[in-house]
Amino acid sequence: MPLTIAVSRERAAGESRVALVPETAKKFIALGAQLRMEQSAGIQSHWLDTDYTGVTMVDGIVDAYRNADLILRVAAPSPEEIAAMPIGAVLIGLLKPFESKERLAALNARKITAFALELLPRISRAQSMDALSSQSSCAGYQCGLIAAARCTKFFPMLTTAAGTIRPARVLVIGAGVAGLQAIATCKRLGAMVEAYDVRAAAREQIESLGAKFVDTGVSADGVGGYARELTAEEKAAQAEKLAKAVELADVVITTAAVPGKKAPVIVTVDMIKRMKYGALIVDMAAESGGNCALTQAGEHVVANDVNIHGPLNLPSRMPTHASELFAKNLYNFLSPWIQDGQLRFDWDDEVVAGTLLCRDGASVHPGVKKVMGDGHGGNT
Ligand code: NAI
Repeated sequence: MPLTIAVSRERAAGESRVALVPETAKKFIALGAQLRMEQSAGIQSHWLDTDYTGVTMVDGIVDAYRNADLILRVAAPSPEEIAAMPIGAVLIGLLKPFESKERLAALNARKITAFALELLPRISRAQSMDALSSQSSCAGYQCGLIAAARCTKFFPMLTTAAGTIRPARVLVIGAGVAGLQAIATCKRLGAMVEAYDVRAAAREQIESLGAKFVDTGVSADGVGGYARELTAEEKAAQAEKLAKAVELADVVITTAAVPGKKAPVIVTVDMIKRMKYGALIVDMAAESGGNCALTQAGEHVVANDVNIHGPLNLPSRMPTHASELFAKNLYNFLSPWIQDGQLRFDWDDEVVAGTLLCRDGASVHPGVKKVMGDGHGGNT
C-alpha cells in the first residue's frame, strides 16, 4: 500500500492556515504518496478543493484520518482530533511540546510518532524545514504593519507644504527572526528604528538592517543559538539602560522569547508610566505571557494613555503565504524519507531525532522531558 498522507481542516480558534498547498501536494504525489484531505481545509488560506489536483477530498476529519500513515497539521491537535488519529500514525506540525502534559499523554496513548517542528535543530541543513523561522518572518512583518497602522504618527519623514514631519521612533526588543523582520518592515516604511537583543550576534544583524543597536551591556547567549534566561542582576541592569529608549519611543515592538519558558517581562509598569502619551506597544510575546507587564493576550489595553496590543497568531493574518511557507517546510522535512511511496526515517539522523517528540507510546525528547517531566506515557 502506498503511503497515505492526511490533512484536516484546522479547528483551533483563529487558525486560518493549512498544512498542505496545491504545490506541495503535487510534489508528495510525485514521490508516490496518496493524499486525502478534509473538504474546504484550504479555503481560509484561499485555496479551493479543486486547486488540489490529485488529492482525494472527503467529508470530515474522521474520514480524512481513517487509516492514514502520516498526518500533516499546522496547530497542535485537540483531544477529539487525537482520538480520530489511527493508532501508530506519524504526525507532524507545530505541536506546542511544552504546553500540555495531557496532550502528550493522549498522543502516547495512541502510540503516535509525533514530530514537533518547534524542536527542529537550528542547523544549516535544516533551514529549509524551519517552520519557526518561516512563521516568525510572517509574525514580525505583521507586527511592523500593526505598529504602522495603529501609530498616531507617520512612520516616514515627510516634507510637506505645511512643514516637515519627523519620522516615528520605533524600538524593537528581541531581534530574532521575528524582530529582524519587524525592524526591516518598519525601516521600509521610513521609521527611525532602534533595537536590542541579549545575544551578542544580534548587534551586527540589527545594524545590517540600518537600525541602531541599544547597548545595555547585558549579553546572555544560551544553547542552540537561543538566549538564556537573565539573572536578577542582569534584569536590573537591562531595565535601567532600556528605560531611556522606551521613554523616547513612539512605538515599542517586543518579540523576546526563551524556548520552553514564559516570555521575559522587559517593559515594566514603571517604564510604561514614563512613556509618551499616545505611544504604542505591540507585544508579539503575548501568547507566552508577554514582554510587557500589562499585556493581555489577544486584547488592546490602554494604560496611562499608552496603547498596548497583544495580538495572537499573527501568521494567520496572512494565511496564503504563511501556509505556503509552512507546507514547504513540511515537504522539505519529510521528502528525504519518502521513497517509492513508503515512509522510512533514519532515526539516528540529527534532524529526525532532534524533532521527535513521541514514539512507541513514550515521550522521547530530552528537553521536553526535562521541562514536562517523564510522567506522560500512554498508560499513565
Ligand atoms: P526566539 O523566538 O526564541 O526569541 C526571540 C529573540 O528574543 C531572540 O533573538 C532572543 O535572543 C531574544 N531574547 C530572549 N530574551 C531576551 C531578553 N531578556 N531581552 C532581549 N531579547 C531577548 O528566537 P528565534 O527568532 O527563534 O531565533 C533564535 C536564534 O536562532 C537566533 O540566533 C537566530 O539567528 C537563530 N536561528 C538560526 C537558524 C539556523 O541556523 N537554521 C534559523 C533561525 C534562527
